[in-house]
Amino acid sequence: VQVLTTITETRAVLDAARQSGATVGLFPTMGALHDGHATLMRKARVECDVAVVSIFVNPLQFGEDEDLARYPRDLSADAALAESIGIDVIFAPSVEEMYPRPVVTAVALQSLAATMEGASRPGHFTGVATVVAKLFNIAGPCRAYFSEKDFQQLAIVSRMAQDLSFPVEVVRCPFVREPDGLAMSSRNVFLNADERAASTVLFRALETGAAMVLAGEIDPDRVRGAVASVIEQEPIANIDYVEVVDVSTLAQPATLRGELRLLVAARFGATRLLDNLGVVVPEQH
Ligand code: PAF
Repeated sequence: VQVLTTITETRAVLDAARQSGATVGLFPTMGALHDGHATLMRKARVECDVAVVSIFVNPLQFGEDEDLARYPRDLSADAALAESIGIDVIFAPSVEEMYPRPVVTAVALQSLAATMEGASRPGHFTGVATVVAKLFNIAGPCRAYFSEKDFQQLAIVSRMAQDLSFPVEVVRCPFVREPDGLAMSSRNVFLNADERAASTVLFRALETGAAMVLAGEIDPDRVRGAVASVIEQEPIANIDYVEVVDVSTLAQPATLRGELRLLVAARFGATRLLDNLGVVVPEQH
């Protein structure tokens, strides 16, 4: 794998690849790559001629009291994993390379970013959208891979690509769980043994909510209440939000119908975990 740290070199390599007829796949990450990332890297590897992973812990998307300083970083382990999958290029710029001057231009977002992660983490999605816009401009025309693990981020990035006419096809990818149900995340390394054991409650709670919907419950508040009460049985867990939303608007419908997503965020000690699960309301007969 070729590790590039400058925008100029990365553009040159990818432009040359496209000129010779190759397709480019970009997987934007913040590093600390795990098996969940490996699944998306393999998908990009199979579907595109040149597969690029960007690794950049983006300061713009962290709040002042958040975990920017302690976010896990291990470029050599990341490069080894990427190499083993056959990734062609890692783009791993420094903060100075990406933001040589204070940022005065940012991507402004409306409805999709107001709730859930947007409400809990003010400024987060502006930071995400801005760095993703930069990465799209650096990579050029490509397929860009995003995990459904960060479901709201995926919705925002796909919409941004359309709204701002980026020559990028956003590819949504299912995400991977540990055998006991915990969604894979770079932040899972922060969990101590008790928190790790407790964390499996999130998936159980989501499954409870999805089962209620499949059994015919159409009141969103009852579904949210049931999901929350499963999580509350776990004393270590501290709920941030529980939502049931329409997949395209990310808003809670008055009555449940169509394709839905159940989303939760909760703290386990100092670590905030997200999870989500899709469910389709069965047709009435
Ligand atoms: O999902 C992430 O890891 C980040 O939010 C992203 C998309 C790489 C932007 O920094």
